[in-house]
This record gives sequence, structure tokens and C-alpha cells, in this order.
Amino acid sequence: MNWLVAAFAVCTLVPGVHSASDSVAWCYDQPSCNDTQWPVIAAAFCNGTRQSPINIVSASAKGDSNLVEFTFRNYSSTSTLKKIENTGKTVKVALASNVGISGGGLSESYDSLQFHLHWGNGSAVPGSEHTVNGKRYPMELHIVNSKSSLNGNTTLAVADSTGLAALGFFIEEMSGTATGQPESWKKLTSYLSSITQSGQSATIAAGVSLDDLLVGVDRTKYYRYLGSLTTPNCNEAVVWTVFKDTIKVSKDLIDLFSTTVRVSDGTSSLMTNVYRNVQAAQPVTTQATSSSDSSTCYSLGLMTLSIALGLRN
Ligand SMILES: *[C@@H]1O[C@H](CO)[C@@H](O)[C@H](O)[C@H]1NC(C)=O
Ligand SMILES: *[C@@H]1O[C@H](CO)[C@@H](O)[C@H](O)[C@H]1NC(C)=O
Ligand SMILES: *[C@@H]1O[C@H](CO)[C@@H](O)[C@H](O)[C@H]1NC(C)=O
Ligand SMILES: *[C@@H]1O[C@H](CO)[C@@H](O)[C@H](O)[C@H]1NC(C)=O
Ligand SMILES: *[C@@H]1O[C@H](CO)[C@@H](O)[C@H](O)[C@H]1NC(C)=O
Ligand SMILES: [Zn+2]
Repeated sequence: MNWLVAAFAVCTLVPGVHSASDSVAWCYDQPSCNDTQWPVIAAAFCNGTRQSPINIVSASAKGDSNLVEFTFRNYSSTSTLKKIENTGKTVKVALASNVGISGGGLSESYDSLQFHLHWGNGSAVPGSEHTVNGKRYPMELHIVNSKSSLNGNTTLAVADSTGLAALGFFIEEMSGTATGQPESWKKLTSYLSSITQSGQSATIAAGVSLDDLLVGVDRTKYYRYLGSLTTPNCNEAVVWTVFKDTIKVSKDLIDLFSTTVRVSDGTSSLMTNVYRNVQAAQPVTTQATSSSDSSTCYSLGLMTLSIALGLRN
């Protein structure tokens, strides 16, 4: 089976939000269908003007006091991770129906449907989708949420400019020589050997919560912009939240993604560099600088001014 037929077969096998309304055989690893070709082979909407991912320039992010805390519904439950699947493009975990988010400057409540991952080639070759000040992280986790009022109708969600809310978390290598850490990620990655071939899936046993996987991240600090799905058809329907803190995972577990799962069946290529390159910049907002920070800036400014004036006299 040549790669084009294989890719198309995979796409038709995996409907869902990550690959919502797939109609073309897209890929990450062949010149004829990789992300440079998406604006041609999936013109609607990969050729659009609010495409994701982007490079976030931290100094250009404007303060917005609407970017308050999120409320996470059932993120502490250890029975919400249902099924893990190799889609041929990513590793995706389906979530239970009672998981969701609200607050965070979102217009309404959203249901968390699934999460999936993007990576490069082991911890040494980074593969996050978003970059911050040009830095690419080893991996990025995306939790895909759909407006609760749309009752999981993904056709309606991708047609609404804020129909989906994606939460992006960078994954970084844990410092030191620890292996198999944290425990939550050890448990999650233990399933990879059961889903080496595209289309395979496994049921996840209770015991790991979303909170456990998001360990170490202060979820009140994030960037916000309006963008798109990062895979065809790249629908411009996504309110993006990219958290500033990273999840720290030991190198051995990060390396499992690029050494275990394959893009198709048999001895097809290992799944590596599964990320889209950055698109044109968009306006980015973040939490407004607190009043104490700005008064510190103000007094430092005054001090600098008086020193400068003093030097002139
Ligand atoms: C993607 O495709 C372009 C041309 O279509 C090619 O120049 C580039 O090397 C390709 N990248 C990968 C990773 O295949
Ligand atoms: C993208 O492609 C579609 C379909 O060919 C076209 O209608 C649209 O005008 C294009 N948009 C841009 C921004 O080029
Ligand atoms: C969490 O899920 C359980 C069912 O597993 C449900 O009874 C409960 O209401 C949910 N909690 C919230 C805050 O929605
Ligand atoms: C990924 O890294 C491995 C080990 O360094 C290397 O053998 C392989 O060629 C790399 N794959 C790609 C697609 O770069
Ligand atoms: C989604 O909503 C549209 C428009 O209301 C409707 O035509 C379609 O059947 C719905 N899809 C599903 C899967 O319910
Ligand atoms: Zn994604």
C-alpha cells in the first residue's frame, strides 16, 4: 500500500475533532502532503488568515483583565480517561462526557472531548506546535473542548468562530536523571506499546486524572489568541489558551513517543515530527500586570529618572 492510500485510509478511520471533516490525504512527512502543501490540498481553511500554531512573542502580549481563572470540571476525577488511540497522526485520548471547563475569559462552558499530543524526535528534537519567543519545546499537549451548548456537534463547532477552545501545555524534559516520572505519565505512556499501529486503541484503566497529567502548571498564567485547528481542514474556530508553565516529564518517557508508535501498520515509519510549523502572528493577550508590579515599575522608573537627572547636574 503506498503512503497516499495509507494516509487516506487512516483519515477515514478516525473521524473526530482533531481531524474534523478530513477530506484530503494530508501528512507531516512527505513533500507532497506535508504542512507546506495544506494551503493547496486543503485550501479551505488552511490558507486562512487566523491560522495556528503561532510563535508567541511574550513582550507583545497585551494585558487583559478578562483573563481570569478557569474552573475545571472533573479534572480531578481518576476515571475520565477512557480510550487511547493511534490515529496515524497523533496519540489521542478520549475523555468521559462529564469533563469540561468554564471561566478563563471564555464566553460559556465548554466540554472537554479529547486530548492528543504533538512531538518531534525524542527530547533532543523538539516538536511543540506553538513556540514562545522562538523557542520550541519537546512536546505539546492539546485538550480539545467544544461549546457545551452545541452538544458535541462538531459540524456546528467548526463553523463557529469560537466553537472550540483548545488548551495547550508544553512538555519539557525533567532535570536530573530520574526515569519513569511523573507516575501519571508513566501510566499513560505504558499504553503506547499496545497501540503501535495506526487505528489501534486501548481502554485506559481508572487511576489517572487530568490534574495528575497537568502536574506543576499554574493554570492561572496563560496566553490567549483566536486561531484555528492545526490540522486540515484548519477551521478557524478555536479560542487558544497556551499555558506559560511547562509539564516536566522524564526523558525516557518523552522518547517513548517517537520510538514506539507508527504512522501506519507493520514496519511503517515511526511517528516523528508530528507538528505544524508556525503561521502568521496574531494579537495575543495575557493576564494584566498586577497593580503592585506596575507600581514597582513606576518607582523604578522614577528612580532611574532621578539618577539620570542627578547625573546631568
Ligand atoms: C515538506 O514539503 C516541502 C515541499 O513541498 C519540502 O521542501 C520539505 O522538505 C518537506 N518537509 C518534510 C519534513 O517532508
Ligand atoms: C482559500 O481558498 C479558498 C478555496 O479555494 C478560497 O475561496 C479563498 O478565497 C482562499 N482564501 C485566501 C485567504 O486566500
Ligand atoms: C463528575 O462526574 C461525575 C460522574 O462520573 C458526576 O456525577 C459529577 O457531577 C461530575 N462533577 C461535576 C463537577 O460535574
Ligand atoms: C529520529 O532519531 C533517530 C535516533 O536519533 C534517528 O535514527 C532517526 O533517523 C530520526 N528520525 C527522523 C525522521 O529524523
Ligand atoms: C449538527 O447540527 C446540524 C445543524 O443543526 C445538523 O444538520 C446535523 O445533523 C448535526 N449533526 C449531528 C451529528 O447531530
Ligand atoms: Zn493538536
